Amino acid sequence: MRLWIDSDMGFDDLWAILTIGSLGIRIDGLSLVAGNAALPQVVRNACTAARAFDWDFPIFEGAESALLGGKVTAERILGATGIRSREKALDDKSTGCAQPGAFEAIREWIESRSGSILLALGPLTNIAAVVGASPELAKRIERVVWMGGSVRQGNHTPSAEFNAFVDPEAAATLLSAQVDMTIVDLEICRNVRFGESDVRHVSGMGGRNAALLADLARGYLDIGLERGRDSMAIYDPVAAVALARPGLFGFVESSVEIVLSGSKRGQTIVNAVLPGEKANAKIAVDADHEAIRRVCVDTLLREGKR
Ligand code: BDR
Ligand code: CA
Repeated sequence: MRLWIDSDMGFDDLWAILTIGSLGIRIDGLSLVAGNAALPQVVRNACTAARAFDWDFPIFEGAESALLGGKVTAERILGATGIRSREKALDDKSTGCAQPGAFEAIREWIESRSGSILLALGPLTNIAAVVGASPELAKRIERVVWMGGSVRQGNHTPSAEFNAFVDPEAAATLLSAQVDMTIVDLEICRNVRFGESDVRHVSGMGGRNAALLADLARGYLDIGLERGRDSMAIYDPVAAVALARPGLFGFVESSVEIVLSGSKRGQTIVNAVLPGEKANAKIAVDADHEAIRRVCVDTLLREGKR
């Protein structure tokens, strides 16, 4: 399998990228998009991660705003870096790893092979910009697996999941482009959780990144703890597992709409496919939550040992 990843580089994005690596899948390239933080910060997060984890794939800077120009970030919850921590920070101001030109890089990569698979971990701006400009590319894409949307409540607004809210027009572009799309929504991710006992094991692994990973994981866990829970949902890594280990999930062919205006902007509405109608996405459902959780946590343990 050859894979491209598109990300807004929060902690769960980093965790998802490590998960793909730990499952033995080669990453051909990583494109960055504004989301969890503004693009320059997203780039710094990626470059610091690339150095810490010895990433050897090329990294490209993509969109700094949504297709219609909006700039929504999650800094209110995640802080200025888009990655919370308790002590250490994944932000040493390094930017040198990333080249400009994500749109061209994604387009060339799709054109250069059949069966391209993309894992989208943030707002869909980059991929939608490429497919919107060259609709014929849709049939060269084998699959886009996206962590985004919610079949129930949102997290950024009562009705919208964050990645969908930041650029609903991008999601709508892909949903209407006849791209084979798998959606790993908020609801399934909410059932795959980790807690302090998992992090304690990571911190005890003794490798060069064990302390860093444990600290970032605790910063991310704090989002759940501050809401009175004893655990936190694992988002983007669940999409990585859906891509690499689809047998751990069920998928339902659906007709998905995204709300583009009003107070429910960014809401994903999932309908059954009517006779004669064509599905525009598969929604991940019925997951083996414990097995998925194990894959995600084992990734942190493995990286903590290295
Ligand atoms: C999504 O929003 C981001 O903050 C996370 O990285 C994840 O991709 C969850 O709603
Ligand atoms: Ca993300």
